[in-house]
Amino acid sequence: MAEQPAAVWPATLSRGADGAMSVGGIDVRDLAREHGTPLYVVDEQDLRSRARAFATHFGEAFAELGATCDVYYASKALLSSRIAAWMRADGLGIDVASGGELELALRGGMPASRITLHGNNKSDAELTRALEVGVGHIVVDSMTEIEVLSALAGGLGRVAPILVRVTTGVHAGGHEYIATSHEDQKFGLSLASGAALGALRAAHAAPGLELRGIHTHIGSQILSVDAFRESAERMLGLRASFAAETGVDLPEVDLGGGYAIAYTPGAEALDPAVAAREIAGAVAAAVDSVGGSWPAFSIEPGRAIAGPAGITLYSVGVVKHVGLEEGGERQYVAVDGGMSDNPRTIMYGAEYQAELAGRVSDAAPALSRVVGKHCESGDIVVRDVDLPADIARGDLLAIAATGAYGRSMASNYNAILRPAVVAVRDGQASTLIRRETLDDLLNLDVAPD
Ligand code: LLP
Repeated sequence: MAEQPAAVWPATLSRGADGAMSVGGIDVRDLAREHGTPLYVVDEQDLRSRARAFATHFGEAFAELGATCDVYYASKALLSSRIAAWMRADGLGIDVASGGELELALRGGMPASRITLHGNNKSDAELTRALEVGVGHIVVDSMTEIEVLSALAGGLGRVAPILVRVTTGVHAGGHEYIATSHEDQKFGLSLASGAALGALRAAHAAPGLELRGIHTHIGSQILSVDAFRESAERMLGLRASFAAETGVDLPEVDLGGGYAIAYTPGAEALDPAVAAREIAGAVAAAVDSVGGSWPAFSIEPGRAIAGPAGITLYSVGVVKHVGLEEGGERQYVAVDGGMSDNPRTIMYGAEYQAELAGRVSDAAPALSRVVGKHCESGDIVVRDVDLPADIARGDLLAIAATGAYGRSMASNYNAILRPAVVAVRDGQASTLIRRETLDDLLNLDVAPD
C-alpha cells in the first residue's frame, strides 16, 4: 500500500571500510574539515531524483486519464538559486511564499511563468513585483486580496492570473501547526461556509484578474492517501458548483503538498508513485460523477523532495551523564548547533535519527539526548536516541532527514551563525548557501557613534 517503511538516509550515503560515512562520494570527515560544522549536506542526486519522481509519477498517472498534473516544488522547504535551477532543469515549477523566495527562484533562472506566489498576507510590494515579472499564478487568500490585487493590476495595466485558496475542511497531517485546511485557522476561504464560492464570484467579476482556478493545501507530513482523495473530491465539487452557477469550468486545480517522509528508521513515508495513482483515480471518479471538462491539475511537494536528501553534520562538544529519577542515566551529547539550525524538535516535537558519522563504535549503546549550545533547556535536537557510550568531544554526528525546513527555518538566536548548505555529487562538493560569518552578523548591527 501507500505506506511503507522508508530509508531515512540520503540515497548515496554509505559507510567506508573504516566505518566513516560518505555521501555523494565524499567522506564526511573531509566535508567537516573543509566546510566546518554544523553543516547541512544535500545529496544532489537524491534530491533531484525525488523531484523527477514526482514529476514523472504524477505526469504519467494523469496522462493515462488524458489529463495533466504539473509539479511545483514548495521552495519553503529549502531554497537557493541553484536549487531553483535544478528544479527548472528537472521539469518542475516553483511555489514561493514571499518576495524573498520569489527573488531566489528568479535568480536561479526559473521562468516567472513557472512560479506560483502564495501567502495569506502578501504586501503590496510583493504583489506588484509578482505582477511586474509576470508570475504564472498568484494564489489569493482573502477577499481583501482580491480587491487589492485587482487595483494593483489595473494600475499597472496587467492581468493577474489567480487561483483562489480554498479551505476544504479536510483535517490531515502531523502537528496542529502544520495542518492547514481545517476551518479554524488563518489560511484560505472556507468551502463549507460558502466563503470560497463567494470569493470565486468576486474574483470572476473583478477587473484585472484572470480566474484560472482553485488551490488547496491540506497540511504537511500526511501519510493517508484518503485525505488527498477527499480533498480532491471536495475541490471538484466546488468547481462543479461554480460551473453550475456561471457556466465556467475553471481550467486549473492545485492540490498542494504535504507528502509524508520517514524521519526515523521503521517510520512510513507516502510513496509518490502510489499517491499519484490513487489521487489520479479519485480525481477521475470525481470528474465522472460531477461532469464537465477536465481541469489541469498541479501539486506542490516540498518536504518529500528536499527532506530525505539532506543530513546535518555536527561536531560533538561536551558529553554529560545525568542520573534519571526513575533510575539509570541519560547521556547528553551537546553539539555545536541546535535549535537555531533545527527548530523542528522544539516546535513540533519532531523525531530524528542520529548516528556517529566519522567512525563506528562497538561500545554499548547508551540512552542519549542530542542537545545544542543555546541557553535554553528545551534546546534539543534529538530527544531520544541510542548512541555509543564512548562518544566524545570531536566526534562527528549526523542527523538524518534534515534537508527540509532546517536551513529555511534557521535563526540567529544567541547570535549564532547560520550553517552553510553544501551539495555533494560524484565526489564533488559545492556550496549552495555559504556559512554566515561574524562580519555578516556585525554588518547588520548599527554600532554606537
Ligand atoms: N504548498 C503550500 C501552499 C504550503 O503551504 C506548503 C507547506 C507546501 C505546499 C509544502 O508542504 P510539504 O510538501 O513540504 O509538506 N515548517 C513545517 C512545515 C510547514 C509547511 C507549510 N506549508 C515543518 O517543518 O514541518
